[in-house]
Amino acid sequence: MIVLGIESSCDETAAAVVKNGTRILASVVASQVDVHRPYGGVVPELASRQHIEAIVPVVDQALAEAGLKAARIDAVAATQGPGLVGALLVGFSFAKAYAYGLGKPWVGVNHLIGHIHSLFLTSDPPLFPFVALLVSGGHTSLYYVTSYLEAELMGQTRDDAAGEAFDKVSKRLGLGYPGGEIIGRIARKGTPGKMAFPRSYLDPHGFDFSFSGLKSAVRRYVDEHPHGLEKEMPDIAAEFQEAVVDVLTDKLVAGAGFKNCRRIALVGGVAANQRLREQLTLKAAPAGLTVTIPPVGLCGDNAAMIAAAGYHSLRAGKSGNLADDVYSRKDLRS
Ligand code: KG4
Ligand code: ZN
Repeated sequence: MIVLGIESSCDETAAAVVKNGTRILASVVASQVDVHRPYGGVVPELASRQHIEAIVPVVDQALAEAGLKAARIDAVAATQGPGLVGALLVGFSFAKAYAYGLGKPWVGVNHLIGHIHSLFLTSDPPLFPFVALLVSGGHTSLYYVTSYLEAELMGQTRDDAAGEAFDKVSKRLGLGYPGGEIIGRIARKGTPGKMAFPRSYLDPHGFDFSFSGLKSAVRRYVDEHPHGLEKEMPDIAAEFQEAVVDVLTDKLVAGAGFKNCRRIALVGGVAANQRLREQLTLKAAPAGLTVTIPPVGLCGDNAAMIAAAGYHSLRAGKSGNLADDVYSRKDLRS
């Protein structure tokens, strides 16, 4: 089954063509980063307008790269939520109309389930069950994944998401937007441990996360050390990153122990972070865990993961209704 996937939940307009939920025939991502950069974050109204401009060319490009005419598509899958409502509406409404026009089925996909499906686009996907950590700009959530469409939430952030913490700290340090990528790059030139930022484990037996204390500690450090900050920047970035990485990797490994499960996975935009990828791989080996992390290109928002999730929803008998609407919040809903 060939599925056209569409993603527009935040600041990326994406379309992809995926065969049988595993083989990417084309994946196109149009980033709006340059539009939002002057504002230091995503401006929802601008995001919606950009999606409107980009959606048709992006879908056309995906079909052209796949070498397929629209009529060869068997179904359409689009992100239904969570995300920015105005942004979601563009891709979701487009998908409904496109599928209706082609006379093909279509299905709405939960963006979080979509991120988990980035794992099934890898050459060595994890077997069920596995414990997956989703780390993105909007979520930091630990799941026990038992099937293509079912995942139990084990814990989540009580305040900022990990990616949000990267973005806010970058802004506070004057490093720019988008913060995660910039901090990751600058941290490579620094050494963690030159100053001490807190690791918040909350309940050591629980799986919730908190990054607001860490964010405040960085702010305090910067306020109290106004001179020579530029020279210290790589070390500040490295120590901040290390604090996030320590907590994320420890909780994911502990989550696998709690579920007596030997397989773990890391997904979402923050999973592109090199230090996080390396440290997780290092910690997993002695614990006897098999780790799956998608290639960097599939960590951030993309439509291939939406097409893959849509394929499994359709196979499970789900299909969209023209009255269906997008949703801004909600955890897993497939
Ligand atoms: O999954 P994603 O593309 O969109 C959401 O669903 O939120 O994740 C975006 C987040 C942003 O907060 C961004 O700063 C973060 O992922 N990010 C990174 C890196 N690349 C992107 N965070 C840390 N290190 C990176 N290399
Ligand atoms: Zn995402």
